[in-house]
Amino acid sequence: MPEADSSKKKKQYYEDIPMERHGFFLKGSSALDWGMKNRLSRIFNPESGRTVMLAIDHGYFQGPTTGLERIDLSVVPIMPYADALMMTRGILRTTVPPSLTKPIVMRCSGGPSILKELSNEELAVDIEDAIRMNVAAITLQVFIGGEYETRSVHNMTKLVDMGLRYGIPTMAVTAVGKDMVRDAKYFRLACRICAELGAQIVKTYYVPEDFGTVTASCPVPIVMAGGKKMAELDALTMAYNAVQQGAAGVDMGRNIFQSDAPKAMIQAISKLVHENLKPEEAYELYQELKKHE
Ligand code: 5RP
Repeated sequence: MPEADSSKKKKQYYEDIPMERHGFFLKGSSALDWGMKNRLSRIFNPESGRTVMLAIDHGYFQGPTTGLERIDLSVVPIMPYADALMMTRGILRTTVPPSLTKPIVMRCSGGPSILKELSNEELAVDIEDAIRMNVAAITLQVFIGGEYETRSVHNMTKLVDMGLRYGIPTMAVTAVGKDMVRDAKYFRLACRICAELGAQIVKTYYVPEDFGTVTASCPVPIVMAGGKKMAELDALTMAYNAVQQGAAGVDMGRNIFQSDAPKAMIQAISKLVHENLKPEEAYELYQELKKHE
């Protein structure tokens, strides 16, 4: 028998105060379940509504690419500066200390290497393993217009269904084939298909013309992919333009880990994303922090 409530204190029901209805800060996410919203709130900062995700999953098709030869030595030290980390289960299990509590966005697709047709991917992680590793989101490539377009879209819908079963959001990455045009028209199509078919986050590339139409026509948060390494000020300018035009943050790899000063670069990006620093101000910060790296 539970103990009877013997307190003499007058009970307080605050009948005149309506219970707060918690809205949700992320676009298109209000109807999601609690676990899904909680995981999204670990990836996206509820104050700024944005994230700085560090992508280091390149090895899943590229092997030890430049900057990722020894993740333990070069990348683990900068992980504390990211809001979230995108990687494979292999790197997570072998190289990342479990004491690091940053939310993990786990790469769940794979198959072809850079030597083959990249769109020919399959799902490559069992949802139980993702749960076992306490991930905050699961992710894969979607190849709209690619040779294996339908397969990659079905990979995504299967992953979304598995994620929904356990309250884990899916981030779809719009992968563009080598010979395909990268413009707003293409990205509007690709991002919208991913959201319509259930992805809770879409990662896509920035385009200088009409990027705002890509974010506006996608009903879930978009994070900007980094792409090839460029000069630091150019990368900062691209990230600034993307968030000012509606991106809910960035998911960058090479422009951080191939930078001359990765720790300085990720901190400069973080200020720009969360505090709206102008690209020139963020670049000044980068140069200052670089002196101590
Ligand atoms: C593969 C990916 C990568 O994680 C990511 O896009 C690569 O990051 P970056 O282009 O910034 O180096 O999704 O397509």
